Amino acid sequence: MQLPGFTIWFTGLPCSGKSTISEILAETIRAERGMVEILDGDVIRTNLSKGLGFSREDRETNLKRIAFVCTLLTRNGVPNIAAAISPFQNVREYARESIGNYVEVYTRCSLEACIERDVKGMYKKALAGEIKGFTGVDDPFDEPENPEVICDTDKETPAESTAKIVKYLRDNGYMPMTPGSNGKTAKTATPSRA
Ligand code: ADX
Repeated sequence: MQLPGFTIWFTGLPCSGKSTISEILAETIRAERGMVEILDGDVIRTNLSKGLGFSREDRETNLKRIAFVCTLLTRNGVPNIAAAISPFQNVREYARESIGNYVEVYTRCSLEACIERDVKGMYKKALAGEIKGFTGVDDPFDEPENPEVICDTDKETPAESTAKIVKYLRDNGYMPMTPGSNGKTAKTATPSRA
């Protein structure tokens, strides 16, 4: 039996580990489900959401577009990963309802640790007042109310966080129960004859 499509919907502060974990997770999903698509906020903003800024309205539009693509992929059986900050609870609820097979993953990380990482130097600029409305500095991030998985990325390694998500996927019928069994769960595999 074919396993269903699903969306991993990341949410977390800038530099909280969304893209890093997405890349590792995508490798595991591709190995076992044969396909996966990543919709990364930074990439989406260079094409599908090109021209949008960071006002509340523009962020909502960006996220609803991502949710729309996730809905199409999910209903066609394609595992997909949305990796955007996704700071608003109302839009996460919208995504959950539209997509259906929705797995929210909160990359929880202290603001201090995110600032320390500052991969692109944007926190530094935001703290200096050179970027206005930067999430976590002077723009809101609503604490997720009901995430399926929480990854404490200031305490776990990316591999440990990925393993938590994969466990959720196996336990909920989105990935084979046995690693490497290529889409067949133990329950649906044809029993072998002695
Ligand atoms: S979201 O709020 O609409 O979910 P998204 O994940 O697409 O955000 O984009 C976030 C990326 O845009 C960050 O990784 C960062 O590189 C860049 N960025 C530029 N300006 C801002 C800002 N004001 N707030 C947050 N991220 C910003």
